[in-house]
Amino acid sequence: MAFRATHLLGIEHLAPPEITALLDLADTYVDLNRRTVKHANALAGMTQINMFFEASTRTQASFELAGKRLGADVMNMAMQASSLKKGETLIDTALTLNAMHPDLLVVRHPHSGAVNLLAQKVNCAVLNAGDGRHEHPTQALLDALTIRRRKGRLHRLTVAICGDIAHSRVARSNILLLGKMEARIRLIGPPTLMPSGVADWGVEVTDNMAEGLKGADVVMMLRLQKERMDGAFIPSEREYFHRFGLDAEKLAHAHPEAIVMHPGPMNRGVEIDGTLADDINRSVIQEQVEMGVAVRMAAMDLLARNLRAARGMAAMGEGA
Ligand code: NCD
Repeated sequence: MAFRATHLLGIEHLAPPEITALLDLADTYVDLNRRTVKHANALAGMTQINMFFEASTRTQASFELAGKRLGADVMNMAMQASSLKKGETLIDTALTLNAMHPDLLVVRHPHSGAVNLLAQKVNCAVLNAGDGRHEHPTQALLDALTIRRRKGRLHRLTVAICGDIAHSRVARSNILLLGKMEARIRLIGPPTLMPSGVADWGVEVTDNMAEGLKGADVVMMLRLQKERMDGAFIPSEREYFHRFGLDAEKLAHAHPEAIVMHPGPMNRGVEIDGTLADDINRSVIQEQVEMGVAVRMAAMDLLARNLRAARGMAAMGEGA
């Protein structure tokens, strides 16, 4: 099977055929999700625990629905801010949960690398639902599925990623995925919101929207991640919208059939004009949410297959 990963910690660890296999399976789950009866049994009898140490609306709901539609027993842990003070606490929590024999752990954490650390301590499949500014693999996969269904391919498309790149795990995972799938990437934003070292990433970088959007097939807007800013990165939100906010006028520089994306939650009137975000002829923002459930079903299905295979081999080893 093309998909060999045992955890989904980041796009960094996936090979292009694994990405394609996951997206192909997700396409079948899109069809299932459009039926009235949405049940499949890929995770029947398995236990999925969602641990969100950071606020989330769509990602948590999406993982919960995905698990339930595949027949898993899904538990959402209410992680209070007080429980994330120390790395030790995270590991202790993980070990405690591990003793209850979960099969899938879905984790969101404000610290980059926390989910990888946790994965080393448990013996089930771990899915990263966003760690700090590091990675958010299922978001990049759902974005890729949305693009692939709309544009028929990923390679040789020009994708403009605009806004707060520096603080965005969504941008990082998307840059990795689109790079692996041979799309052309342009990053647009003020220099204060570009990560250090971006010059070595092999992507085009500009602080001019007209230039960056020119001929783009996909325009991906990012939220200003104020919770991760520890200083003044922009002069004012009004000024930011004027220079970097996407509206119909700036979008006119892109390809006439360019699609507009945003991972949500949106700040209307800050990074994107509200009317454009709602324009079903240009915006695929709701479709991204739909694709999110299908991609998470595919990811958990594939990880569960590998988990069963690994446990089966271990059991045979024990028997020998
Ligand atoms: C993103 C996140 O949490 O990283 N949201 C999401 O998962 N849909 C982006 C964001 O918070 O801006």
